[in-house]
Amino acid sequence: MKILVTGGAGFIGSNLVRRLAARGECVVIVDDFNDYYSPSLKRANAHWAGRAGDVTIAEGDVRDQAFLEEVFKDSAFDCIVHLAARAGVRPSLADPQLYVDVNLNGTVTLLEQAHRAGVKRFVFASSSSVYGVSRDVPFSEDACADHPASPYGATKRAGEVLLAAYRHLYGLRFAALRFFTVYGPRQRPDMAIHKFVRAVISGEELTMFGDGSSARDYTYIDDIIDGVVAAVDADLEWEIINLGDSEPVTLKSMIATIGEAVGREPRIEHLGDQPGDVPITYADISKAGRLLGFKPKIAFKEGIKRFVDWYRNAQAQGLL
Ligand SMILES: NC(=O)c1ccc[n+]([C@@H]2O[C@H](COP(=O)([O-])OP(=O)(O)OC[C@H]3O[C@@H](n4cnc5c(N)ncnc54)[C@H](O)[C@@H]3O)[C@@H](O)[C@H]2O)c1
Repeated sequence: MKILVTGGAGFIGSNLVRRLAARGECVVIVDDFNDYYSPSLKRANAHWAGRAGDVTIAEGDVRDQAFLEEVFKDSAFDCIVHLAARAGVRPSLADPQLYVDVNLNGTVTLLEQAHRAGVKRFVFASSSSVYGVSRDVPFSEDACADHPASPYGATKRAGEVLLAAYRHLYGLRFAALRFFTVYGPRQRPDMAIHKFVRAVISGEELTMFGDGSSARDYTYIDDIIDGVVAAVDADLEWEIINLGDSEPVTLKSMIATIGEAVGREPRIEHLGDQPGDVPITYADISKAGRLLGFKPKIAFKEGIKRFVDWYRNAQAQGLL
């Protein structure tokens, strides 16, 4: 298959590209290597993924129609996996226009291009943040997802709705995958687990928001990639599917697990709740199991150990 992966130099993207290339797919990465976090980290990700097989990189912005036309001119794609976005809840409160611009204009520009090129198979990175502050757990895909708690969550829900319009108009086949807090090697440096591991390893104080009882359904990267690859292969008609671990972990317990894996007692600065934060995320993954054979394999403790090992290695190589 020839597969376009937007955001292929990012955390999830590079792990996906490596897996697809290793099993013999021909992969084109579209990424603008922006400076939301270190572009050199993204270049290292893309280089690492590219070593696995047939991977080419097209550097540019998914909002740039002329650029996308060039990319599509050279290739007949069987499938598009659209991961390029501005990610992260808190920064979306500081710059909501940018989030709407990249996540919506980027998605619609890509959808237009896919339509013109006759590409029918589309996998979209949505997010657990569409569920907002719901306490009706576990979150099921049938539940209302129209009350997100941040501009970021709103853009992800709007992306799903755009896909539905393209399905109606042009017969687009799509899987919108709602990822639940993904962690593991190459995780974005702005995400809590990455920041906390950095702080504990360097003996600095980490910042804990709220009383530590908030809970997240942390999902190991390899499990997420299993789900994304299964969605590429399944070529579903049009589905929204949760991909999570379905085992929420409290913030307090997450910090303690990091302390154990690093071998040092975390030093904690306590601050109040942050706007945009939600009390819990918890995925009902029965639909993913039914449609994709999805079954997470990596328990949280083991996943954190693997992340800490990766972090130390990357640090020794001067990557972080
Ligand atoms: N990491 C998570 O826990 C998580 C959870 C839910 C959803 N998601 C979604 O999964 C996707 C990947 O997330 P990630 O954590 O790997 O983030 P990431 O920031 O590491 O990856 C996104 C990549 O997209 C690229 N990009 C951003 N804007 C672009 C543009 N306009 N044109 C071209 N490339 C652009 C970035 O340079 C980056 O390499 C995102 O859509 C994110 O919203 C992630």
